[in-house]
Amino acid sequence: MNSHQSNIIFFVYGLSFSPIIHQADFMMNKNKGYVNQDYLSQAAQMFAPIKTGSYEKLQAQSAQSLIDIGCGPGIDTTTIAQLYPELNEIIGVDFDKEMVQQADTLAKQKECSDRIRHQHASTYELPFPDNRFDAVRAERLFMHLEKPELALKEMIRVAKPGSKLVIVETDWASMSVNNNMDELERRLSHYFASEFLHNGYSARRLPAQLTALGVKDVDIDISSLQSRDHHLWQLLSQHAAMMDKALENSFINPKEYQDWNQQLEESKASESFFSTINIMTFCCTI
Ligand SMILES: C[S@@+](CC[C@H](N)C(=O)[O-])C[C@H]1O[C@@H](n2cnc3c(N)ncnc32)[C@H](O)[C@@H]1O
Repeated sequence: MNSHQSNIIFFVYGLSFSPIIHQADFMMNKNKGYVNQDYLSQAAQMFAPIKTGSYEKLQAQSAQSLIDIGCGPGIDTTTIAQLYPELNEIIGVDFDKEMVQQADTLAKQKECSDRIRHQHASTYELPFPDNRFDAVRAERLFMHLEKPELALKEMIRVAKPGSKLVIVETDWASMSVNNNMDELERRLSHYFASEFLHNGYSARRLPAQLTALGVKDVDIDISSLQSRDHHLWQLLSQHAAMMDKALENSFINPKEYQDWNQQLEESKASESFFSTINIMTFCCTI
């Protein structure tokens, strides 16, 4: 395959990043891999087609009530409210009170707060009765969860029989960065998924976890994101914080830390930086 053909394949199957994100402002003190509203708002731009696809899979147009679990600052609850005016009730839950407040503010700004309620709650203990919702959604939540099976059980419990459960998750195992230090690149990718996040390998584990809970016919879509913008990649991968943590935990040594960062600078200068990652969307009928 020549390079022209491979570019076309990325164009068809991948989503190109544009250089929209240049600032990472992480608040690492909250929990592993915590990201703030600013990060999520900017990331939402590159996730837009994936988000839209997930709303369609939820069949929100024919639902009466929908829940978005780990709703963050309400980017999806408010967008869904605007896209589906016939949807009566949209509930967002998040265990971070600040996110819940930000989500409420966004709903007011977008003038859709009459049909949305954001609530402080954990996915492990959803404050709703069984068979409550027509559509259940979670995006980039499972990477933060230490007990993913319990979260899935709760999601299935609150979903009505015949309703849609849609989960969007980053497959951190698929993060790939062009670099001369291939062995270190693989090690850092593993460190990020296994240590820096609670559950960075969550995406590839979800099909088996759903099957174990009796959910059949899980439909899986995979979107490839690509970037030639190393600022963007640094933001997406929480690179600076991850490198500091890896050094602090002696996962890499000071020379590796320095060489890696130098390599990145060189790839930036020579415009040879290139990375890819897969985002998976799981859809099933409960
Ligand atoms: C990466 S953010 C994604 C936010 C939103 N789904 C989006 O796509 O913009 C993950 C969110 O999950 C929330 N979260 C993490 N663990 C949670 C738990 N156990 N219960 C509820 N929410 C949780 C975090 O507070 C955060 O807002």
